[in-house]
Formats: sequence, C-alpha cells, structure tokens
Amino acid sequence: VEMERDQLGREKAEMGQKLEFLQKERAYVESRREETERKLTGSQAELETERAKYMAFVSLSESRLAEVQLERDEAARRASTFDSRERELLGTVAKMDVARRTLHNRVMQLSGNMRVYVRIRPPLPGEAEKSVAAIPAASSSSSRRTSVIRPRPTPPRHAAVSDESPFHFPGLLDRDSSSPSSAMSLDDPAKNVLVVTEPYKDRGGLTPRQKKWSFNFDGAFGPSCGQEELWEATEPLVQSVIDGFNVCIFAYGQTGSGKTHTMLGDDANPGIVTRAVNKLFDTKSAIEGGGVCGVGGDATVDISVELLEIYNERVRDLLAPDAGPSGKELNLRLNSNEAVGNVLVSANSREEVRDIMDLAQRRRCVKATQSNAESSRSHMIFTLHFVLRHGNSGLIRRGKLHVCDLAGSERLSKSGSMGTLLKETKHINTSLAVLSNVIEKLQGNDKHVPYRESKLTYLLKNSLGGDSKTLAIVCCNPLPAHFGESMCSLRFAAKANRVELKATGNFSC
Ligand SMILES: Nc1ncnc2c1ncn2[C@@H]1O[C@H](COP(=O)(O)OP(=O)(O)OP(=O)(O)O)[C@@H](O)[C@H]1O
Ligand SMILES: [Mg+2]
Repeated sequence: VEMERDQLGREKAEMGQKLEFLQKERAYVESRREETERKLTGSQAELETERAKYMAFVSLSESRLAEVQLERDEAARRASTFDSRERELLGTVAKMDVARRTLHNRVMQLSGNMRVYVRIRPPLPGEAEKSVAAIPAASSSSSRRTSVIRPRPTPPRHAAVSDESPFHFPGLLDRDSSSPSSAMSLDDPAKNVLVVTEPYKDRGGLTPRQKKWSFNFDGAFGPSCGQEELWEATEPLVQSVIDGFNVCIFAYGQTGSGKTHTMLGDDANPGIVTRAVNKLFDTKSAIEGGGVCGVGGDATVDISVELLEIYNERVRDLLAPDAGPSGKELNLRLNSNEAVGNVLVSANSREEVRDIMDLAQRRRCVKATQSNAESSRSHMIFTLHFVLRHGNSGLIRRGKLHVCDLAGSERLSKSGSMGTLLKETKHINTSLAVLSNVIEKLQGNDKHVPYRESKLTYLLKNSLGGDSKTLAIVCCNPLPAHFGESMCSLRFAAKANRVELKATGNFSC
C-alpha cells in the first residue's frame, strides 16, 4: 500500500506538472487566439474600406465609360456627317471646276483663239545714240551709203511727237494707275491702243509729212512694262493647258527686238517659260496634295518636256542623250505633224526642267550678229505636256503648251550677213514668211493652209488651228532707225489679230 501510495504520489506530481504545462500552453494559445482575433477584426475593417473604395472606383469608371461611349457615338455620327459633307463639297467643287473650265474656255474663245500682244522693249544702254546716226534721210540717198554720223534735224513743231520714239500707248498710263491688275484691264480695248508715228524725215524743202497708224491689240506692252505684267496677261492661257487644251505661245519680231528675253528671260527677270513651268508644278502639287481642281483625291499629274530646234530648215532634238553639242537631227513624220524619235523627258520638279533648259540653251544655235550679241539663229520649240490622271474615275486630261522662241527676221540688205549667216538669215526669213502666210489663211478661214511649206508651221500645225489657243507676242525695237522692220512686224500682228488698221497711210515692206 505504501508503495502504491508512493507510486500514486509520483503520478500525482507528474500529473500536476503536466496540468501546469497544459495550463501554460492553454494560456499561450488563448493569448494567440485573442491576438489573431484582434488582427482579423482589424483586417476585416481595412478590407471593408478597400472594398468600399474599389466599388466607388468601379462605379465612377462605369459612368465615365458610359460618357466616353456617348462621346464616341457622337464623334462617329459627326464623322459620318463630315464624310457625306466632304463628298457633297467635292462634288460641288468638281461641278464648279467643270463650269470654271467651260467659262474660262468660253472667255478664251470670245477673245479669239488667236491673240496678239505687242511688246516694245526699252532702248538698251548706248543704243539711242547709235540710232540717231542710223536714221535714213529720205531726200539724201548719199547719206545712206556713208557712215557719217549726222545729227537728226529738229522736226517742225506741227509734226513733232512728244519724244523720239515712234510708239505711243495712250491707254497705258491709265492702265498703270487705275487698275489693280493689268491683266483685268487688258479687257478694255481702249487700254491696248498703240499709236505709231512715222519718224520725221527731212524731205528736202518739201512739206514735212508724218504718217500715223493706230492699232488695237489684245495686249499692248510698252518699254516700261516688265516681265511680270506680261505674265499676268499670259497666265490664263497656261491655265487652259491645265484644263486640257493645246496652247501655242510664240514670240515674233525683228532680230534683237526682245523675243528671247520675253520667252526665256534671265534669273533676275524670268520669262514666260520659267513662269509657266512654275505654275504647272504648283498646280501639280496642289492636285496631288489635296485633290483640288475638282478631281478629288487619288489624282496624279505627269509633266514631260520636249525641246526641238529648227535650224536651216532641219529639225534637231536638243534633248537626245546621244546628240552631239548641237542636238540630234530628226525626220518629220509625214502624216502626224510630229518629229520622229525625239526625246520626251519626264520632269519631276521645276529644277529638272531648268536643267533641261540649260542643256538646250547650250546646244541651241546662238551667234553674235551685227544687230544682237546673242542672236538666236534657230527657232526653238519648247513643249510641255501636262497629263492629269484620276485613279477613281479613270479621268485623263491632257494639255500641251508649245512655247516658241523664233529666230528674228532681218532684211538681208541691212543684216550685212555673209556666208553661213546669210544662209541662216534666208532660211529664217522664209520660214517666218510661211508662218505669216499660214496665220493669214487661218484667220481668213481658208481651206488650204500651207502648213507644209516650212518645218516650223508643220510642227506647230496641231497647235495653230482648231480648238487650240495661240498667242503671238510681237516684239519691236523702240528705235526710229528700226521703224521699217517694226512696221513689218506690226503688219504681221495686225494680220494675226485681224485688226483693221486705222491708218492714214500705207507702208510697204
Ligand atoms: N523688255 C526688255 N527689257 C530689257 N532688256 C531687254 C528687253 N527685251 C530685250 N532686251 C535686251 O535686248 C537684247 C536683245 O534681246 P533678245 O536677245 O531677246 O532679242 P531677240 O529678239 O531674241 O533677237 P534674235 O532674233 O536675234 O534672237 C538682249 O540684251 C536683251 O536682254
Ligand atoms: Mg533670240
């Protein structure tokens, strides 16, 4: 019993230790539980706050999304309105462009498919003195043979003109001052009157007599008119090229009268060619950039260039890559009025055309003559093709601009030409006479027009008659010494313009 009691006592002590241990464990677990419960309660509160925030954010996003969707729908609706408005406007622009082209063409037709401008250049430095010496005195044939410099006799009061020049533009002052645009004022015929007074001649005691002529051209440009003013009047014809017509602009006149200056000019005073090229390239950029000119988008423009020269009745291609320093000789195709095998260079920029022109100028036949230090001894025909293609509608519009810088006419007796120069002068005069004849027949609606009598008229056939528009710029030397030649050029101009001469006398040449 003692042993059992000891045993039980030990077991009781052991049990007491275990109980104590378990109580400590329980207290620890209890405190952990309390701590965990505390933490859990805190986390739940945090979670609740976060959830509330999240829910607020979701509802805000949803209302924003609804707003954005509304805005998107509104934008889509407006875009479709704009699309249909754009289509409508493009349609209107296209219709207006057709109307504009028709009206422009009508205006061109009303003012005649053949237009004539006359340009009297200013006297060049040192030229006026020479001209005084060179005025032929009618009564003294000996003075023509000698080179004695005779001062010009003072004309009697009643025959006097306001200055030395035989040319007067009564409407030019008004044009300069009253109109904002000279091109607009060209529509007024009174502004384009040219009065020509025969230079005073000493008739050796006979009653002095000076004949007077009055011309009315489509445009009259005096010595004070610059390249810009002439271009303003010429620009509508270049517009016709863009509108799909054939246009031919040529400069006609005595050697040294300013034809090359008018057509080509120089860097400081660019002529018609440079300005026309600029206009064509500006229009190309506008069409390809934004679908202007009523063709809508997807339109392209190709500009290409041809350059021919007629020298001694032979046609030469100034652009042929295999040509020598003076171009490559070409044949003419008999039934199509075209040169055979000439080069058509596609030009992508105005700079490329300028390079082409420089090359052609180097190859062109230019010589110093008695009358002009840089006389063009050949006719140059510069052709610009403007082709508009519209992808959507398949529309193709082709316009062609011929710009001709003709060689100058010159009286054989006066030119003092010999040898090669003489031969050139004869060829030049013959082809200019044919041109004059062709224009006369065209203006007279003659059935037979002698295009084939010269290479020049042959090549220009398609651009001289029919629906083509032709502008002749007749250039004259301002000096009384060249009065005879100027009068011949004006006679040509009058013929081309079908101008009735209000003349008080005749002049034969
Ligand atoms: N309107 C003008 N203003 C100033 N100078 C001019 C004008 N027209 C011509 N000139 C000058 O007169 C000279 C002769 O002109 P240009 O060479 O153009 O004559 P052309 O008619 O072409 O002669 P050609 O038939 O011999 O070739 C040149 O020096 C040119 O610069
Ligand atoms: Mg010239």
